Amino acid sequence: MGMYEIITKKKRGRRLTNEDIDYVVKGFTEGSIPDYQMSALLMAIVLKGMNERETFELTKAMTESGDTLDLSGIKRITADKHSTGGVGDKTSFVVGPIVAANDIAFAKMSGRGLGHTGGTIDKLESIPGFKTEIPEEDFINNVNKIGMAIVSQSQSLAPADKKIYALRDVTATVDSIPLIASSIMSKKLAAGSKVIVLDVKCGNGAFMKRYEDAEKLAKEMIKIGESAGRRVYAIISDMNQPLGNFAGNALEIYEALKVLKNEGANDLTDACIDLSAMILLGAGKVQDFSEGKKVASETLESGKALEIFKRFIKAQGGNLKNMDSLEHNVKKCKKLEIKSELDGYVFEMDTEMIGMSIVELGGGRKNIGDSINPYVGVYLHKKKGDYVKKGETMVDVYYMPESNIDKAAEMLFDSYMIVDKPIRNNFRHAYAYLDKDGIMS
Ligand code: URA
Repeated sequence: MGMYEIITKKKRGRRLTNEDIDYVVKGFTEGSIPDYQMSALLMAIVLKGMNERETFELTKAMTESGDTLDLSGIKRITADKHSTGGVGDKTSFVVGPIVAANDIAFAKMSGRGLGHTGGTIDKLESIPGFKTEIPEEDFINNVNKIGMAIVSQSQSLAPADKKIYALRDVTATVDSIPLIASSIMSKKLAAGSKVIVLDVKCGNGAFMKRYEDAEKLAKEMIKIGESAGRRVYAIISDMNQPLGNFAGNALEIYEALKVLKNEGANDLTDACIDLSAMILLGAGKVQDFSEGKKVASETLESGKALEIFKRFIKAQGGNLKNMDSLEHNVKKCKKLEIKSELDGYVFEMDTEMIGMSIVELGGGRKNIGDSINPYVGVYLHKKKGDYVKKGETMVDVYYMPESNIDKAAEMLFDSYMIVDKPIRNNFRHAYAYLDKDGIMS
């Protein structure tokens, strides 16, 4: 069967066979299937969907399209986490050290930011000297010695996903649960860890705006991972406001250090504890989720996680000197304060717009390959539910001469919706916790 027949089949809502899927992934990766035919098939998948078997086969074919990371040289149980992308998410810098302190190997490959969402690799590269590309042997050695390493995703890992994702990005075919699930899980499976915790963001700053879609995506990814023999858990977490108070690359390392010193924002600290607890549970280090939270909190309070973070940064060439000082981090920047023009309560924050304001400042990229500025960013004095007085500062913006500061300032001002009545401040950073059996009680 050729590509024309496969497109026709999916257009009519029929199931593709495993052979069809393997043929498509192989042909497109090798270049024998042109973009126009692949685009037509992707659109048919967006409109007609894929069942569980098709989604699993697509994931498997993409995983097998390139190299897989061999973690057999790591002595401890291996764990990985993945966030579907948000604003202010610096949890990996805290979760990695917490689980590493509990005898779990956190061996992670991460990506760069694109669009309004930040990327772990960009944040790490704001640390002077830090190397995000190291030989595989050093990666394994560091994980064995320290308990963790984070490197940028190898180009040879799931190359089919790279090619398909680039096409989806320009053909309006990103928003499909089977396509997102297979894209994420092909990379996670190729990266080799036994335990995988997925942080599925939900809200106005996330891919998944609606809770129902986030839950469906989480369940789909858990099924794929479990069918491939991994232990997979997911948290559906809130992205209707940035996580923590800082967004911007070096500023997020600064905030992660604050959490590691037990001085961090509550929502961010809670998110780190939850994600760590899930990994501890998946790795069999605790009996249940609440014991996991207790162990994770104790580890953080003990200062062991901070020590591991410092060793991890040093092992990859980074120098954290003065990065725990806000003044030092922003000393190259000018500061602008965004003030409220009303008395009232913060009712809503447009998280995607806040993320895009970082891009205007030069802290994120509009196109792959754009260079970014590590220093720029924001400190959010006010978050949802907070009271603000007319003339009071809502946001400190740190910018550089090349930043598009007027546009960024306008976006930040517009991202706050202030109302005059108090709103119930019962925000939760997480809506649900899932394992292979569904929502955990
Ligand atoms: N992140 C991915 O890696 N793939 C998608 O399809 C969407 C988000």
